[in-house]
Amino acid sequence: MASETNVSEDDIIRIHDNHGNTIELLGSGGQYLSASSVRSGRYPNPVTNIPRLRKMNVNEDDIFLCAYPKAGTHWTWEIMTMLLQQSAEYHPREKDSHMYEFHIPETLQALEPLRVFNTHVRPNNLPEQFFEKRCKTVFVQRNPKDIAVSYYYHCKNLIQFGGTFEQFMDFFLKEDEPVYHCAWYKYTLEWEQFIKENPDHPVHCIMYEQLQQNAVEEIKRLATFLKTPCDDKLANLIAEKCSFQNLKDATLKVKKGGKSWTVFRKGKVGDWKTHFTVALNEKFDQYLQRHPTTSVYTYDI
Ligand code: A3P
Repeated sequence: MASETNVSEDDIIRIHDNHGNTIELLGSGGQYLSASSVRSGRYPNPVTNIPRLRKMNVNEDDIFLCAYPKAGTHWTWEIMTMLLQQSAEYHPREKDSHMYEFHIPETLQALEPLRVFNTHVRPNNLPEQFFEKRCKTVFVQRNPKDIAVSYYYHCKNLIQFGGTFEQFMDFFLKEDEPVYHCAWYKYTLEWEQFIKENPDHPVHCIMYEQLQQNAVEEIKRLATFLKTPCDDKLANLIAEKCSFQNLKDATLKVKKGGKSWTVFRKGKVGDWKTHFTVALNEKFDQYLQRHPTTSVYTYDI
């Protein structure tokens, strides 16, 4: 069995497409991370770390920001940290410094409260105490077609995926496990089910497209959920500081370490239209029809 930093060859799962591309994964609890990123020391081995994370202590005021990769996690995290500190100043560290599955429990527990942990894990991989203490949860969603495009560039940059966009879609639309992180539809359906079955657990839902359309209103709605004061002046300042270009520039200049700046690619709604062929769009629509979610993606899907 691998330790948090070592990788055992036996734990590596290789998934292939029909074009000779391979992705190497390490997984636990249906959550699959990149073996190359574990080997390079970017994050601990999920095989041993996720079971430990599930047992970690959390505070009642720890907040969990949950989103499928590329749904707008960086953007929302920065807004949340500004609301909590009551000023439109950038957090000095990257959001990955507070990313749940990127650290061992000891590192996360040493972070100063009030903490906004962010994560792409399915609900079953969150700490047992998250459920017991009903930690505030912010759930971010985005048009899955735009997620798929954004995810392709993420995988090219961060896990050295060498195939084309069309080839990447074979991995994205895979319906049987494993899928890098996990399949979009499974992630979304599990979160929707959790929200439905746990009406006492405080969950606030944000749509990336609505944040784009009306950032100030969405920031105020979020502040109400977090029970933090937020007048028009603060909401406008935060919206401005967290605009795509400003946040991208700040991530390069203000934040220490990391490579998060590669995340700020286009920040647009509907970029999928410049990437999808008619055939791929039909295939994607069929995938969505096979796995209907209760969330309605009204953004020109
Ligand atoms: P694109 O690749 O479509 O540009 P995550 O933080 O979950 O990894 O999501 C990254 C996506 O959110 C990227 O999408 C990124 O550009 C976009 N994004 C980040 N900050 C943003 C902002 N302030 N406004 C709009 N989009 C933003």
